[in-house]
Amino acid sequence: MTETTGAGVQGADKGQMVYEGKAKRVYEGPQPDTYVVVYKDDATAFNGEKRGTIVGKGVINNRISNILFRYLETKGIPTHYLKDLSERETLVRALTIVPVEVVVRNRVAGSMAKRLGLPEGQVLPYPVVEFYYKNDALGDPLVNEGHVTALGWASRAEVAAIQTLALRIGELLGQFFTPRGVALVDFKLEFGRDSAGGIRLADEISPDTCRFWDATSGEKLDKDRFRRDLGGVEEAYAEMLRRVEVQA
Ligand code: TMP
Repeated sequence: MTETTGAGVQGADKGQMVYEGKAKRVYEGPQPDTYVVVYKDDATAFNGEKRGTIVGKGVINNRISNILFRYLETKGIPTHYLKDLSERETLVRALTIVPVEVVVRNRVAGSMAKRLGLPEGQVLPYPVVEFYYKNDALGDPLVNEGHVTALGWASRAEVAAIQTLALRIGELLGQFFTPRGVALVDFKLEFGRDSAGGIRLADEISPDTCRFWDATSGEKLDKDRFRRDLGGVEEAYAEMLRRVEVQA
């Protein structure tokens, strides 16, 4: 199966589409227990109310996320990543996704600033982990660990593993971004279960799913430029790719 997009033919061997999200499509992969993820240029915000295109975003997010997933794997984090297929396509392990978005916050920003009436930028003495139930119809509501276990989304042991992994990933990403002049303000992770029952990092880590501020100027280098109509969106994504690709 081939697919033609504005960026050219995406030729990886794919089966049936199993899922279409706001920023990616997922297909059955060439081997059992694999999926092919295809990154789109589509951008949405506020649960899909605001829509647009960020030209080249799919290529950039695929590259950034794969570099970060490979880095995390070298540091002992189990992930879904298997290999790069093309500039927008990645082969991943098929996981059963835990329907929870895990947000780790190093500083107050975004919905935390709004919910608690705090200014953006305040550094937290230690990272705060939050869970949001992945449900578009409900607008991804904030939930707690009790909701996650009592509603059967994950076991207590899995929640503990997710929390430990999320904090470790935060430390490792901090070590990656600090020498690249980027403050990692907050980020969102997703996890899933592999066929052996192990918890692995899934989804992506990119300017769509993190707040990246230039460490010196505080300039936003992430999707907040799109969400808040700040301009310079494509330039910010390109700048983040440049910094991620730098040997630091
Ligand atoms: P928030 O401050 O809006 O809750 O966002 C926290 C982090 O999660 C931020 O880095 C952006 C990311 N995020 C997503 O990846 N997907 C989403 O749907 C939302 C709302 C936030």
